Amino acid sequence: MSLIRPVIRGTGHYLPERVVENAEFAKTLDTSDDWIVSRSGIKRRHFAAEDEYTSDLATYAARAALENAGVTADTIDAVIVATSTPDYTFPAVATQVQANLGIISGFAFDIQAVCAGFVFALANASGLILAGQAKRVLVIGAETFSRIMDPTDRSTVVLFGDGAGALVLEAQEGTGASTDRGVLACDLNSDGRYRDLLYVDGGVSRTGQAGYLRMQGREVFRHAVEKLAATAMTALDKAGLTAADVDWIVPHQANLRIIKGTAQKLGLPMERVVVTVQDHGNTSAASIPLALSVANAEGRFKPGDLILTEAIGGGLSWGAVALRW
Ligand code: UT7
Repeated sequence: MSLIRPVIRGTGHYLPERVVENAEFAKTLDTSDDWIVSRSGIKRRHFAAEDEYTSDLATYAARAALENAGVTADTIDAVIVATSTPDYTFPAVATQVQANLGIISGFAFDIQAVCAGFVFALANASGLILAGQAKRVLVIGAETFSRIMDPTDRSTVVLFGDGAGALVLEAQEGTGASTDRGVLACDLNSDGRYRDLLYVDGGVSRTGQAGYLRMQGREVFRHAVEKLAATAMTALDKAGLTAADVDWIVPHQANLRIIKGTAQKLGLPMERVVVTVQDHGNTSAASIPLALSVANAEGRFKPGDLILTEAIGGGLSWGAVALRW
C-alpha cells in the first residue's frame, strides 16, 4: 500500500555567540560549577545578545536547515515555530521568520507547549502533511529563555540557555510499513493540574509583564522520568515497534540525570543517546531540533535509523515521536 510519510530532509541550528560558563554564576550567586554539573550535567550555555531576538535565532537555524536539505525557501508551504519566548505577543514568530526568508505564500504559526513544544510542532507538521495541507514544512524550535530568568534565583537561572534548531519536513511516498522513512508515530499529552510545578509568573492578560520562570525542580524531575519513558513506549507501540528497535534517542535536554534515567527505563545504553545538555543547557523547545542538527552534522545518523524523541515541560505537557531517518 502506498502512503504519504513526513520525512526529515534536512536539519540546521544556531547558537548565539556568547557562551556562559558555570563559573560566571558563581560570581554573583551561592552556587558552584560542581553543583550545577553534578545535579544537571550542564557545563555551559549560550545567551542571545541584547539585540538578538527569537525570530533571528529561528531564521539562522531555518537557513541552515534549508541549505542542508538542498531546497530553497520558496518551496516551503508552512513555517511552524515552537517557542515560549516570542519576540512580541503577536504576530507569531513564524510569520517574522517567513518574512525574513522571503516566503510570500503558504502559512505560518507558533506552537506553545514549552519544553515539549518541538514534539508538539513535529506532530502537528506531520498531521498537516498527512492531511494534504502542506507538502514541505519548516519545523523550528527557538527560544531566548535567558529573557525570562530571575537572575537572583539560583535554582533556575543556571539551567536554561538560548538557541534554535530547525528541520525541513516533507511528504514522501512510503509503503505504510514501519520500515518506511519519516515520522511513524506520535504521542502527545498534557495535564493542566500540574501548572504550579513549572510556570512563568507574568503574562499579557494577568500582569502585562513577561514575568520570570518558576519551577519546583524536584517535582518536575519526578514526573519527567516516569512520563517520558511512558510516552516513549506508547509512541513506539503505536508504530508497531519496541525499545529494542531504537537506534537513537534524541531527548529533550533538561538534565543529564533525567536523560540517563529515561534511557535506563527503556533499557537502552547511553551510547545510543544524543546528549548536548552539557554545552547548551536547557533550551526548552529548541533543545531537540538543536540536538538532532548537531548529531546530523556529526554524521551520527544513517538512513534507516530509528530515532525516538521525547520531551516534557510546563503545563505539564509531554510527548514523543518515533521516526525513521
Ligand atoms: O525542561 C523542563 C523540565 N524541567 C526539568 O526537567 C527540570 C527537572 N528538575 C531538575 O532538573 C532538578 O530537579 C534540578 C537540577 C532543578 C535540581 O536538582 P535536584 O537534585 O532535584 O536538587 P533539589 O532541587 O532537590 O535541591 C537540592 C539542594 C537544595 O538545598 P536544600 O534544600 O537541600 O538545602 C537547593 O536549595 O540544592 C540547592 N540548590 C542549589 N545549590 C547550589 C538549588 N539550586 C542550586 C544551585 N547551586 N544552583
